[in-house]
Amino acid sequence: MSASLAARSANFLAARSVRTVVRKQAVAKTAVYSTRRTLTVSTRAMGAKIPEGDHFTMADQPARFAKGKADNNSRMLTTDYYDGTFLKGQRVLVTGGNRGIGLALVEELVDCGADVVVMGRGSSDELDALEGVQVITGCDVTDTKSVEAAVAKVTEPVDILINNAGYFYEPLETITSMNFDEELKMIDICAVGPLRVSSLMFNAGKIKAPGGKIAMITSQGGSVAWRVVQNPTGHDYGHHMSKSAANMGGVLLAQELAPKGVCVQMLHPGFNKTGMTKKYEKIWEVEGAVDASMGAKRVLHEVKLMSPEYNGLFINCEDGLQIPW
Ligand SMILES: NC(=O)c1ccc[n+]([C@@H]2O[C@H](COP(=O)([O-])OP(=O)(O)OC[C@H]3O[C@@H](n4cnc5c(N)ncnc54)[C@H](OP(=O)(O)O)[C@@H]3O)[C@@H](O)[C@H]2O)c1
Repeated sequence: MSASLAARSANFLAARSVRTVVRKQAVAKTAVYSTRRTLTVSTRAMGAKIPEGDHFTMADQPARFAKGKADNNSRMLTTDYYDGTFLKGQRVLVTGGNRGIGLALVEELVDCGADVVVMGRGSSDELDALEGVQVITGCDVTDTKSVEAAVAKVTEPVDILINNAGYFYEPLETITSMNFDEELKMIDICAVGPLRVSSLMFNAGKIKAPGGKIAMITSQGGSVAWRVVQNPTGHDYGHHMSKSAANMGGVLLAQELAPKGVCVQMLHPGFNKTGMTKKYEKIWEVEGAVDASMGAKRVLHEVKLMSPEYNGLFINCEDGLQIPW
């Protein structure tokens, strides 16, 4: 090992041990994380096995929300646990920050004193109204050259990259109404897109290493194990395939970047009232959909908790528990 590599590893190991100590203190305070590692398996309908345990959140979304209310679960129902002070002075890049959860993330980051960069196809009046945000437009996450050009405009490495941009084709896909072009588009945006952004950013030295974090906003829709509960009659092929592929990409990225001191985590942002879920407006209140401002705080809380010890997990930001693959 060269002297500089050895020095870098030593630095990383030292930094990791500090983070581990801090994390262990946090773990002692929250039983939630301490139970994430135990795994039990039970058998469910159609021969599928859904891993269960206290560290796993519930597949049945209406039942999950009803239980949260019955238990008066403040982690689920409030943002009392949230403390955004860790974001002050952090450099954070958000993709798709012009609307929806992405815009809410940017607004919260600005409020907390972060140094924010947004990459997207276009801006919006709300995004333009925020002061001190670098907005890089013309960046389509399916177009490598446009991502390269956007990355070149990022002046300094970021502490946190949030791959938020995503797409959910509006009509229901069934065996008689599959849209193959749309399926490939969703896979390109939701699964390959975050890899394009992450790899081009990392290779250009624009993600701090060691110490950087990459949050992949995927979806509970990407959990294969949960399809028997959430899609008992199938459907939504392209979207759910795209998020499943995004989870796989994230796990592989977590494996590859761990030795370089960069954490990667897959985050389901919860059910948020945005343009994407407008088609589900009728079930928003029954299934616990929240305003994107609350969803953003849930996401940023989980970003705060990201550490080497919990690298590569798939977390439900609604309650901080794991979702099975
Ligand atoms: N809302 C929920 O309940 C929910 C649940 C689970 C997961 N998610 C995930 O959370 C993320 C944000 O969702 P949302 O509800 O905020 O969705 P949204 O309101 O539809 O916003 C989607 C964002 O992604 C951007 N985007 C789409 N295609 C892009 C492309 N090719 N290149 C660059 N940017 C692109 C959009 O930019 P344009 O304005 O240019 O289209 C927009 O900024 C997505 O990854 C979504 O899958 C959301």
